[in-house]
Amino acid sequence: MKKIAVYPGSFDPITNGHIDILQRAISLFDEVIVLVSNNSKKSCNFTALERKEIIEETLIELGIKNVTVEINEGLTVRWAKERGAYHLIRGLREVTDFEYEFQMASANEFADKEVDTIFFMARNNTSFISSSAIMELYKNGVDVSPLVPNSVVKRLNK
Ligand code: COA
Repeated sequence: MKKIAVYPGSFDPITNGHIDILQRAISLFDEVIVLVSNNSKKSCNFTALERKEIIEETLIELGIKNVTVEINEGLTVRWAKERGAYHLIRGLREVTDFEYEFQMASANEFADKEVDTIFFMARNNTSFISSSAIMELYKNGVDVSPLVPNSVVKRLNK
């Protein structure tokens, strides 16, 4: 049976930190689905469709295979299971991520015990990167190109 994992997030926009997590996940699974959350609670810089397009451009740019990108508005575990995916991928950067991720993994476990979460620790100096930090640096004239894929830089400069 094909082993599929879902990597959910808002990806507003995707960063080199996300890419590092994604590439490590691909080495464990036959297919990884990046699931862009269209969660109305969080106000985003890019629409869900733009975030999806940026990720797709990034996959082409970096030659990353076996990854597809989808948009979801509902429960992540439900979406994953409907596609035959029994693992979620998440990254951990700082201690503060742990509390948030532990709470979310527990809520997901409550919703469906069959879907488990795998965590990758941030590495390669990506632990300080966040999408909102990227946007703030960019809006204040800082060159963010070392922190994000080219497709993000192109989108920002549009
Ligand atoms: N590299 C760079 N940034 C990282 C990162 C990494 N390795 N890991 C986390 N981040 C950052 C993101 O850039 C983002 O930064 P921002 O807040 O400045 O935008 C932040 O950490 C959190 O991002 P993300 O991983 O996208 O999580 P999220 O909290 O935005 O999204 C969902 C969480 C979408 C996965 C979750 O809310 C969800 O599944 N929602 C659907 C409903 C549901 O099923 N809920 C669960 C049960 S309650």
